[in-house]
Order: sequence, then C-alpha cells, then structure tokens
Amino acid sequence: MPFNNRTAVVTGAGGNIGRAICRQLGAAGVHVAATDVSMNTVTKTATELQALGYDVRPYQQDVTSAESIQSSFAQIISDFGKVDILINNAGVWCHHDGGCRHLLETISDDEWKRIIDINLLGTFHCMKQVIPGMAERHYGRIVNLGSIAGNSGLPGAADYSAAKAAVIMLTKVAAMENAKRGITVNSVSPGMVARGDVKPNSGTWLGRSGTADEITRAIVFLADDDAGYITGVDVPVDGGRILGPHNFDINTDGKFLS
Ligand SMILES: NC(=O)c1ccc[n+]([C@@H]2O[C@H](COP(=O)([O-])OP(=O)(O)OC[C@H]3O[C@@H](n4cnc5c(N)ncnc54)[C@H](O)[C@@H]3O)[C@@H](O)[C@H]2O)c1
Repeated sequence: MPFNNRTAVVTGAGGNIGRAICRQLGAAGVHVAATDVSMNTVTKTATELQALGYDVRPYQQDVTSAESIQSSFAQIISDFGKVDILINNAGVWCHHDGGCRHLLETISDDEWKRIIDINLLGTFHCMKQVIPGMAERHYGRIVNLGSIAGNSGLPGAADYSAAKAAVIMLTKVAAMENAKRGITVNSVSPGMVARGDVKPNSGTWLGRSGTADEITRAIVFLADDDAGYITGVDVPVDGGRILGPHNFDINTDGKFLS
C-alpha cells in the first residue's frame, strides 16, 4: 500500500510549492505536519486542506534556529508519534531588501549567512531531528529541495546557488550514510516555477515555466514507499533547462528554428 499510515513533515509549507506538497500528500492519505516561520501562512494552508478532509496540521518553525526546530519536532512527534517522511522545502533566494539579483561583491556577510542558514543549515538541522527515529524503525524518506541554481548556477544569486549546491551534496552523503538503515535521501531541483498560471520562458526547452504541482509530483513520487530503490539522486524538474542552451531548437512541426 503506498503511503500506508505515513506521517510527513513539510517545511516552508505556507509557500507556493509547500502548499502543493501538503495538498498532494494529504490527498494520498498521509498525515502531514506543515511547518513554516510564518504561522499565518501555514495556518491558511492547513485550514484550506482540512476543509478537503486532509490531515494537515500547522506548526510554527524557524529553520534557522536549532532551538525552534528541536521544540517543533518534539511537539510533532508527540502529536503524530513518528516521522516517516521529511520534505525540506523551506528556502529563499531574495534578500531582506526585496531584491533578488545581487552581484557577489555586493552581498553583505549578514545576507550571505541568512541565505545559507535558511537553505542549508535548516535542511541539515531538520535531517538531524528525524534520522535517528527513522533508523530505529528502519524506514524513512527524505526529499530536499535543490534548485537549478545549485546545478548550473544563477548569476546574481551566488549565495543561493552555493547553498543549493551544498544541499544537493548533503543529500548524496546522507543517502550513502543511511542506505543500510532503510532511509532514502533524494533531492528535487526545480527550474523557474510560476505562481498561478504557467508563463512563457525561453530559457527552457519546453518554452515555459513549471507549476508547483509539477514540482510536487516528483517530490511525492520520491516520498512514496514504492520509491525505495532510488537514493542519492537529484531530479531536475525544469523543462529541460539543465540540458543547456537550445541553439538548435525545433518547432511544433518538427522544423529547425535556427
Ligand atoms: N519557485 C521557484 O522558482 C524555485 C526554483 C528552484 C527552487 N525552489 C525552491 O523550492 C522551495 C520552495 O520555494 P517556493 O517557490 O515555494 O518559495 P516560497 O517563497 O513561496 O515559500 C517559501 C516558504 O519558506 C518559508 N520560510 C522562509 N524562511 C523560513 C525560515 N527561516 N524557517 C521556516 N520557513 C521559512 C516562507 O515563509 C515561505 O512560506 C525553496 O527551497 C526554493 O529554494 C523554488
């Protein structure tokens, strides 16, 4: 039985992709602890999904604080009994000033630390919380959010690109360390994701941005019981952007465009 009585923690669950993850896991019958630094947004996620009959419960959690992570996980384990699935989705790439593109030499030490802490340190701390229990029960699925920025780099986001590249490597090492303990660890690397409707995007082979639901399909697949023979991989869900520049593009009639 896929997702037989499984319990999941989803971080950053008040955001665009986090909401979609909670929705798809909830619809599959998974009991979901939805966490976010913003209690408002995560409560909105949980309330909407509870109205559909899904077991999605909100928790406040700041992934940059070891103390906050520890206390929220203690509460979650007391409420749910166990954590079978961890989705490390909380992540940001824009700075406090709202700007999302900064040349490396203009990034302050504080912003560098903030971006690394949310994307990388938070992922590390959450994994530390769940691995001992998963190893004891000899079952676990961990899916971390990478990014196309962590694979091929994003100019204007050196901090975020470095953090996501590190998340992808952290994933591979954790997969090796936990392979014999029944825990799989994988990452999913989105390309550009639209909020709402799909938008044209000439940087991808598919010529469009993706949706939160499309990213989530890959995450949920890796989180399933049936994905037990896949570990240590990074799955790009990016419309083919990782394939590189499309200099020899072909149109819908199969004709070369250049
Ligand atoms: N949207 C994209 O185009 C894209 C592309 C590649 C990778 N990603 C990755 O996907 C994940 C989700 O992205 P999204 O587009 O849904 O982002 P989003 O901004 O919609 O959601 C991110 C969530 O993380 C939460 N968050 C921020 N700081 C936090 C903290 N300190 N502790 C806990 N939660 C915190 C925010 O409150 C928010 O709800 C991120 O890891 C992001 O890096 C997104």
